[in-house]
Parts: sequence; structure tokens; C-alpha cells
Amino acid sequence: MKDNWIAPSILSADFARLGEEVQQALKSGADVVHFDVMDNHYVPNLTIGPLVCEALRKHGVTAPIDVHLMIKPVDRIIPDFAKAGASYITFHPEASDHVDRSLQLIRDNGCKSGLVFNPGTPLNYLDYAMDKIDMILLMSVNPGFGGQSFIPYVIDKIHEVRQRIDASGRDIRLEIDGGVKVDNIREIAAAGCDTFVAGSAVFGAGKDSDPNRYDSIIKALRDELAKARA
Ligand code: DX5
Ligand code: ZN
Repeated sequence: MKDNWIAPSILSADFARLGEEVQQALKSGADVVHFDVMDNHYVPNLTIGPLVCEALRKHGVTAPIDVHLMIKPVDRIIPDFAKAGASYITFHPEASDHVDRSLQLIRDNGCKSGLVFNPGTPLNYLDYAMDKIDMILLMSVNPGFGGQSFIPYVIDKIHEVRQRIDASGRDIRLEIDGGVKVDNIREIAAAGCDTFVAGSAVFGAGKDSDPNRYDSIIKALRDELAKARA
């Protein structure tokens, strides 16, 4: 079983002081930086690109950066994110005309690759992809915005993907994204996830003036994860 990773989504951070926000979350015990890229085309919102990823690296962020592409098409921008310091790059299979090529492009550029499944997207995209991916990201909300509620039927999908990963015998992380909170992370972990995106739960916690403002939320999430393993 893999170590559990907590991946705060910077979508809910204060963009005016993003570097400090990310460093605070990491200092409080976060494992990974979840970096949401939206294009106002594949999803109805617009966020950040490779320049901001590079800026975080220049600010001294050394933790893995998990780039979640909610853009269409995907290939043109993949090398830019690799150069900007991305560790993982994941994309939605509906957003690429050539899924195999896009996955290969991510690895050729030295990053770990992954596919993202919307709540309503079938898992058959995995049938011929298990040897080309390092991460499977299940959306538990429809992508585009932070602060939405976890869609309960995705729990069944987590079980299904967990079985596929175990049957493959491959080293693939299973990540969940959307509506993850202290009160549901235990059930999500028990279903088989090992990587947990949390946007509003983390960056909505604590007082801005408190340099340790994310300590208690990240500890609370970890305590729940420990119970899931107990
Ligand atoms: C939604 C993004 C998420 C988002 C999650 O499209 O992919 O990463 O930030 O936010 P919360 O944790 O608030 O649901
Ligand atoms: Zn995301």
C-alpha cells in the first residue's frame, strides 16, 4: 500500500500571495501541490499556466507539482509545463484526440503521466493505458470550480479503479479530486485512494495572519487517514 499524499489545490489559495500560501501548506505537512489549469473552453473557468508553475519553482517550492489539465487540446502545452517544473501532468481523455500520444508526450518530457475521469466518464479509457500511466485521477465533482460537494456514487468508481490497479500489478497512484473534507476522507481512503486533493478544505482554513494556519486542518485530514488504515 502506498503512503497517503495530501495535495492542496491552489485553486482555493489567495493568488495575490500564492508563493507564501503554497509554502505554508507544505510546511504544515502537505505532500504535493495540486495545480489546476482551466481554459474557459474545456471547463467554464480560467486559471493559471506554465509561467505560474515556473514562478513557484523559482520561489523555492521543491515538493512535487501535480498539474491537472482541464484544457482542450492538451499536447501543445505539455512540454511547456515540463520545462516549468511540473512533476505529474494529468489530462482528461475526452480532451485529447490521441490519448496514447499525449500520455507518451508527457513521459518523453520527463514527467509522470495520468488520466482524469469526470464523474460521468467511463473507465474504458484505461483498457489500453495501464502501462502508460503513473496516476489515475477520479473527479468527485464536475470540473471547473472549487467548493463543490462530493458526488457519492464516485465511491463505487474508486473501488473499481482500485481493483484495476491491483490486478495490473503496476505502480499507479489513485487520486481523488473534489469535495474532499475531514468528514469524508476516511471513507474515500477505505475505498482505495492514496492521493487526496483538497482545495477549499485546506485553503479555507485558519486565519490569514497565522503562519501556522494550515497545521490543524492537515493534521485533521491525516488523523482520519490513519483511522482508515487502522
Ligand atoms: C475542480 C478542481 C479541483 C478543486 C477542488 O475542477 O479540479 O482541484 O480545486 O476544490 P475542492 O477541494 O474545494 O472541492
Ligand atoms: Zn484538480
